Amino acid sequence: MDSRLNLTTRPRRLRSTSEIRNLVAETSLSLEQLVYPLFFTHENAAEKTDIKTLPGLARYNVNGLLKEIEICLKLGIKHFALFPKINDDLKNSNASEALNAAGLVPQTIRLIKQKFPEAHIFSDIALDPFSSDGHDGLVRNNQIINDETVSILTQMALVHADAGADFVSPSDMMDGRIGAIREALEENGFQKTGIMAYTAKYASSFYGPFRDALDSAPRAGDKKTYQMDYRNIKESLTEAYFDIEEGADIIMVKPGLPYLDVIQYLSQNVNTPIAAYNVSGEYAMIKFAALAGAMDEQKAMIESLYAFRRAGARIIFTYFAKQYAELLAKGL
Ligand code: PBG
Repeated sequence: MDSRLNLTTRPRRLRSTSEIRNLVAETSLSLEQLVYPLFFTHENAAEKTDIKTLPGLARYNVNGLLKEIEICLKLGIKHFALFPKINDDLKNSNASEALNAAGLVPQTIRLIKQKFPEAHIFSDIALDPFSSDGHDGLVRNNQIINDETVSILTQMALVHADAGADFVSPSDMMDGRIGAIREALEENGFQKTGIMAYTAKYASSFYGPFRDALDSAPRAGDKKTYQMDYRNIKESLTEAYFDIEEGADIIMVKPGLPYLDVIQYLSQNVNTPIAAYNVSGEYAMIKFAALAGAMDEQKAMIESLYAFRRAGARIIFTYFAKQYAELLAKGL
């Protein structure tokens, strides 16, 4: 019996060899598109402290951070996002250390830029590492107050821009902060400083390991009155329109993997480049699953990074950046 199907189209033809698969691949993933988030703290801490819930990652003191950045630059990583752990005795309810021009963050940005002018820096703009309440905004009578917070974030952005940050990255989700920061940057001669807005940042349990790494969990309550509700997608476009109109150069969706629909939705509706944040909990899921022998770590990493590109992210913030760079360096 002849079982031959008389097919005109056989999609498997384009999957038949790796050369053909590479020829027709719809997306690519290069180091140029990755941003490596790094945790750091004051010089009197150990050069490198492992983070229990983020296997393979560490928190560095300033010297350790400079060494790590040098290694990453040699591997071809060009973009870094900096996240500080501030000593408890510098935290207060006004988050005043956030505005200290001689504080840990601006000093470290200056050092990095002096030593490695080619390193491209995204500095985080939010109050949680500096606030004794652990919230991204000021807390008054158990409320996160918007407008006063925006005025502090605006001054903070100027301090970081002056230190040499290439992009300031407001991750706080206060209303109106992008416009206020853009206006202040323009007025103070920082026309070249970019704004990467955390536009659709959801209140998420996937930030758990990050808050461990920085000891930045809210002391009371949660972040649901400012971060987005995970039941919503249309609201992300409202946020995107505001941020773009107010002067954002790049908009971000965060977390990443559980929110690929949001990335795709925004990429189909706006032209501003979209960054995805492959957050700490997503990294931990793959690492711990691999440690338990449940899946192949490298393959799961690469597959999920490509998922961001397929969804429409141009830029990916990922804790896997160094591991991916090491694989490329080995020719894999
Ligand atoms: C805080 C901030 C958070 C992350 C980046 N900036 C945590 C939060 O909002 O509580 C999370 C990143 C991650 O989980 O990898 N402004």
